[in-house]
Amino acid sequence: MQLLAIHGPNLNLLGSREPGLYGTASLEQIDADLRRRAETLAVEIDCFQSNHEGALVDRIQQARGRVDGILVNAGAYTHTSIAIRDALLAVAIPYVELHLSNTHAREAFRHHSYLADRAVGVICGFGAASYGLALEGLVAHLRARP
Ligand code: DQA
Repeated sequence: MQLLAIHGPNLNLLGSREPGLYGTASLEQIDADLRRRAETLAVEIDCFQSNHEGALVDRIQQARGRVDGILVNAGAYTHTSIAIRDALLAVAIPYVELHLSNTHAREAFRHHSYLADRAVGVICGFGAASYGLALEGLVAHLRARP
């Protein structure tokens, strides 16, 4: 089983970015943890971060036919990007949306997601642990499919 983790804008700054909100784990640590967990679950995972909407769309398009499931924290693009939504729907790969923070407990503009209604599920509010929870949920979903 091949998975892809998509990290959107500003997530490259995790560890130093608003640590009270997003915690102190760096993106490198989060990716290393995802790879360890993936190994334990006997799945493969690639991780990709970009601050650019088009680069995220390109990476999602490249996954078509090669990837079984996607973990996506699109950062602020979650709340703005029809292009990322369209890319995820175009490749027709099941995805889990996740966030470190509980977006529903924050500003009103973070309450809407362009991705959530077509996601397998959404995990938010558990800090860096959201990634591991999302990975487990996605793998369980994919394994349960007929
Ligand atoms: C975030 C939440 C978004 O609203 C924000 O723009 C981010 C991070 C999170 O993981 O909590 O960049 O996706």
